[in-house]
Amino acid sequence: MTRRHLQIVVCAAGPAADVTQLITTATQQSWTTAVTATPSALEFIDIEAIERLTGHPVRSTYRSSPGARRSLPAADALIVAPATYNSVNKIALGIADNYAMTTVAELIGRQVPTVVVPFVNAALAVRAPFQRAVADLRDERVRIFLGTDDGWEPHQPGSGSSRRRAFPWAAALEAATPMTSGVPARSTDQG
Ligand SMILES: Cc1cc2nc3c(=O)[nH]c(=O)nc-3n(C[C@H](O)[C@H](O)[C@H](O)COP(=O)(O)O)c2cc1C
Repeated sequence: MTRRHLQIVVCAAGPAADVTQLITTATQQSWTTAVTATPSALEFIDIEAIERLTGHPVRSTYRSSPGARRSLPAADALIVAPATYNSVNKIALGIADNYAMTTVAELIGRQVPTVVVPFVNAALAVRAPFQRAVADLRDERVRIFLGTDDGWEPHQPGSGSSRRRAFPWAAALEAATPMTSGVPARSTDQG
């Protein structure tokens, strides 16, 4: 059976704890899923719950689980969510200093449809490096889910906990789905 595969990359921000919502919704829509976490994000997520839902080990390093393949997984779409200020800036600059960033760099380079959903406060979002990063990634055809059109704006500093509940997991998946329409579904073959 061929099913589309969604690669999810989580960064170290509060909504990472709720990535199971995205996995569940995607699975209901016949995606297979796998999660890669930045090293800092490991503190934020329930690894066992994610592995139970995805059926794949959570990857964070090149050798995070015995027997796991070193190569990057085939993916029909990539969602980076929540994307931190730190990781958005790194992705735009092409910095690949951990397995998650290497995964993102390579999948964007392979032109895998990519949606990035930042979770940043307004004080960080106005910084010139972040503004440049968003513009540069959009130039690379990465969908940055941020702004009035997306109904997803940076939050006021200190309000992250309450904003976490509004994180647009389903909307991110909806944004990724039409981007894959020209991509042939393929057999799942992830390590
Ligand atoms: C409890 C906690 C909450 C955080 N929330 C956010 C956040 O909402 N957005 C953000 O950009 N960084 C947040 N940070 C800071 C990031 O975790 C930090 O910049 C980290 O280096 C990001 O690593 P990563 O981008 O590799 O995941 C938070 C840190 C902590 C400890």
